[in-house]
Amino acid sequence: MNDIPPAERVEPISLLDGLATTRAIRRYRPDPIPDDDLAAILFAATRAPSGSNRQPARFVVLRDGSHARLAKALLARSFRARWAEKRAADGYAAGSGTDPSSPKARMAATMAYFVDHFEQTPVVVLACLDRGRKPHPHDGASVYPSCQNLLLAARALGYGGVLTVWHTAVEDELRAALAIPDDVFIAATIPLGRPVSRHGPVRRRPLAEVVFEDRWGASAAWAVDPPGARHTASRRASTGHEQADLDR
Ligand SMILES: Cc1cc2nc3c(=O)[nH]c(=O)nc-3n(C[C@H](O)[C@H](O)[C@H](O)COP(=O)(O)O)c2cc1C
Repeated sequence: MNDIPPAERVEPISLLDGLATTRAIRRYRPDPIPDDDLAAILFAATRAPSGSNRQPARFVVLRDGSHARLAKALLARSFRARWAEKRAADGYAAGSGTDPSSPKARMAATMAYFVDHFEQTPVVVLACLDRGRKPHPHDGASVYPSCQNLLLAARALGYGGVLTVWHTAVEDELRAALAIPDDVFIAATIPLGRPVSRHGPVRRRPLAEVVFEDRWGASAAWAVDPPGARHTASRRASTGHEQADLDR
């Protein structure tokens, strides 16, 4: 870890600035997250809205207990398998990916670091949905807002993380290891820790491409990005290649 620069100072940040700088962080320092910070992060997660305020979201927090270590080892296997599939499917090693300085290759390097160090991730949160009813198409809408609240709160306290769904290759073993009932939906696996790199501007499509007024496809003259907004490189559906500078 000697090549890791000093951690960023944690400065108070406005909600809007936090929103604009909460990007996916996949490389973590090994420092544990203190209980108070973890409680604050989970509190924010539980402030999220849910349908009829039913509050079906549940959070299994994995640190360094015996179950957690087992679960992290299972997840590490799953993450490595899923990244290997994505790397091949999205052609990360082909084309510009052969140039180590290309965005594609840098993204691949971050991903490799992420999955190779998964067991050392200080905290992994399994965001779950305890349905209590038959599956419904809108179920996810009662758990994913809590995931974003969690990531925003982590950002406010100087931590970083990323919403992932790469637990799926070991889901049955994970349920067995952690006694997660079959009717509970594991919605996301969210690793958290102090970033190796830094928080930074999120890049997205410009407002003009995604905001319509009055009818579908009609541009809105007022829908203008604030000064300094960063954009993704192209209009095509992103594979993530062009985002490689975000967690370098
Ligand atoms: C529904 C959803 C599923 C995701 N699944 C994964 C995943 O399995 N693995 C991963 O590394 N990132 C995953 N991500 C993170 C996205 O890749 C990331 O949020 C996106 O590329 C934007 O990154 P940025 O905020 O750094 O710009 C997921 C994000 C969402 C919203």
